[in-house]
Amino acid sequence: MTTNYAGRTPSGRGLGAPGRAGARPPESLERLLAGLTVHEKALLLTGADAWRTQGAEALGLRPMIMSDGPAGVRGVVLDEREPSSSLPCPSALGATWDPGLVRELAAALGAEARGKGVDALLAPTINLMRTPLGGRGFECFAEDPVLTAVLAVAFVRGVQGAGVAATAKHFVGNDSETERWSYDARIAESVLRELYLVPFEACVREAGVALVMAAYNKVNGIPMTENGRLLRDLLKDEWGFDGVVTSDWHAARSTAGTALAALDLAMPGPDGPWGGQLAAAVADGSVSPGVLDDKVIRLLRLADRVGAVGDSPNAEEPGPAPVDPALLRRAAAASFVLLRNEDDAALPLDPAQVGRVAVIGPNAIRPAIHGGGSAVVMPATVSTPAAALGAALAGQAEVTVAAGCQTWVVVPEPGAGSLRDPATGEPGLRVEYRDRDGGLLAAEHRTSTALAWWDQVPPGIGWGMPGSIVLVTSFRAGSTGPHLLGAAGIGRLTLTVDGTVVADGATAVPDDPVEAMARPGEIRATAAFEAGHQAEIRLEFRPAADGEGPLAVRLGIVPDADDDVLLAEAEQAAGRADVAVVVVGSPPMTESEGFDRATLALPGRQDELVRRVAKVNRRTVVVLNAGMPVLTPWADQVAAVLQVWLPGQAMGDALADVLLGRAEPGGRLPVTLPAAEADCPVLHAVPRDGEIGYDEGLLIGYRGYDASLTTPRYPFGHGLGYTTWEYETLHAETSELAAGEDLRLAVTVRNTGSRAGREVIQAYLAAPPDNAGAGAGPRPPRELAAFASVSAQPGAPAEVVLRVPARAFARWDTAADGWVWPAGRYTLHVGRSSRDLRLSAAVQLS
Ligand code: BGC
Repeated sequence: MTTNYAGRTPSGRGLGAPGRAGARPPESLERLLAGLTVHEKALLLTGADAWRTQGAEALGLRPMIMSDGPAGVRGVVLDEREPSSSLPCPSALGATWDPGLVRELAAALGAEARGKGVDALLAPTINLMRTPLGGRGFECFAEDPVLTAVLAVAFVRGVQGAGVAATAKHFVGNDSETERWSYDARIAESVLRELYLVPFEACVREAGVALVMAAYNKVNGIPMTENGRLLRDLLKDEWGFDGVVTSDWHAARSTAGTALAALDLAMPGPDGPWGGQLAAAVADGSVSPGVLDDKVIRLLRLADRVGAVGDSPNAEEPGPAPVDPALLRRAAAASFVLLRNEDDAALPLDPAQVGRVAVIGPNAIRPAIHGGGSAVVMPATVSTPAAALGAALAGQAEVTVAAGCQTWVVVPEPGAGSLRDPATGEPGLRVEYRDRDGGLLAAEHRTSTALAWWDQVPPGIGWGMPGSIVLVTSFRAGSTGPHLLGAAGIGRLTLTVDGTVVADGATAVPDDPVEAMARPGEIRATAAFEAGHQAEIRLEFRPAADGEGPLAVRLGIVPDADDDVLLAEAEQAAGRADVAVVVVGSPPMTESEGFDRATLALPGRQDELVRRVAKVNRRTVVVLNAGMPVLTPWADQVAAVLQVWLPGQAMGDALADVLLGRAEPGGRLPVTLPAAEADCPVLHAVPRDGEIGYDEGLLIGYRGYDASLTTPRYPFGHGLGYTTWEYETLHAETSELAAGEDLRLAVTVRNTGSRAGREVIQAYLAAPPDNAGAGAGPRPPRELAAFASVSAQPGAPAEVVLRVPARAFARWDTAADGWVWPAGRYTLHVGRSSRDLRLSAAVQLS
């Protein structure tokens, strides 16, 4: 059933440095071009399908395969039979503050992409976390442009070093998901230059990123796919970007407008506003032949870079190349941020001292390992906190597990072990593809009950088609009693248990096609099952007439539970234990592309759960499993708080390593954690009358908190680790700096604790008060200017030299249309976080 296109694997050679134009000399690409008609050229510039570009045999050009995404490479299918490594999400990578580790992971991701035949990875996402409610915040590295830029460059270098093209997305102003297809981000030029464009500029100039993805939204009135000023004048002409500007999926909505604005590739295909219409626009003179040729040259240059064109195609055959599980585990632990550790003593746990451990919380059992939308991949295995802690403490401590409360929004998938394919008897289910009359077109065995397809279904099945997809399975309940069944998908759903229809109904078509996967409508029923007995379950799904995007259907079954009972059980378990580890956070898929979050509060009764557990157990360790900030009103009542983000498939093992002290929680916050929603400099992501005014100017994240003198719950840059540090000396290499010069700072710190550890040394620049760039609004009191990490043994000093780049001192002057270096006395503050600054030095800029 699954169509396997024989994508060839790019060669192992890395993609080049900035401005590198592939292995071929430019004339040879132009020669290839000369053999093509206008029509043939135009056709190359729209995708062949959801994930492939067009090939051209005459040119020796094969289709290139593109694939999401930022936390794992999916390939052309989302299918448990072709699993992908699930990495810590980008906000977790942001928390590592470690470009070396990010590059190492990205290189491994690039190798896995090559193994899947993928030529271009649709990552990294380098928008900034403007608001903590932004649905895709977990997909971004940080709220700060410098941290984002450093990690983005490392990511691009890692991926491209493995011979796979990286894509910097979403260019630019794609900082909200509400009305993301149409909203107009009103951003002052100076704010664009000093904040939102910084990571893109770095990826182009420093890392030679191969693709840039033009976003759905408008910026200052013009859709990004038609934004000639930002795509052509700035990205290509000013920055010298020589790669391909691809549209976000379906974002190209005009022919000449997008072509002239310097969009190069309209994805996906084969439909869209280009193709024959683009050829016609060239014929009628609205698009010049030179504009068309430039796009094709760029596409051929990309093909050359990834080895997709030429007469000696890569010999390498694709094959699974998963990321080393040990690297996933190490990276996850390195991203965990220890927010609180009472008396420096609650963590790590000494297994010899803890006889009984209660592992509590909905996310201990069903963690959120990744966010929703295009970032989703299907890993082969997931280590849950409950299972991993149980295994890590086996033979040393008694581990009890309690959910505490329920938070899921879509009825969870039943464990594969509870299902049997009625045709084969194997664990799992049978998926049948049926025509309008119920005739069987094809069938296959699957193990996941959450299924999605872009184009791998038989003809006659899809949006507006008469056919259906039927899931059939034999379910064996683990407990006797009522269970909740859920059938989710966009269209008509009919659910039967042992031949009786228990639910039948249609769900609404969402505004955003990605919701078909991320947040589909669901119909539910309750049915009684007996432990150990088999029940035949059948779910028929007829996709809606007017749906769009990938097809998706899922079947969920879960024992019907009462939160009051779950809370009481958790409280009891905690009361009997020496330590309570409470894993709370976002339910799976609630942080997602396609929609923003409505609140920062923990969903369901999780706050109550933490409070009740903390009341009966003094050693309560709260683990926050969320990709973006959540409120922690109980933080002072618990012994320790550990932020673990959406950590990927290695979550449980990495958590066990950190809780038991086998690894240091090495992370520092890449985003401010607020004490209350009202404290956030920018809270809501919702457009008003189609517009989002970036009126806060430069004051997002910690810059805003600092400007309004608001104390966050935990500040940007904060993270305790398992040792303590003293900041001993800071020397600026000069006290007089000329405009345009970098500044070097030598910093010495000492590990004053009893364990070896890693410290992230952060330098913040405070500008003289009166040098606001025209239009930028108030300057933040301090801005991250440089950072570096050191490791040291207990008692040992460590020295590092930080380079503060000249740009840190510059402002964008809108009137002069350029960077200026306002003279004056600047202060460099160096410390452990944006609010824990230990040393300072002054420098006069002339
Ligand atoms: C997302 C992109 C993604 C693309 C392809 C879009 O909806 O915004 O980030 O790469 O789909 O999946």
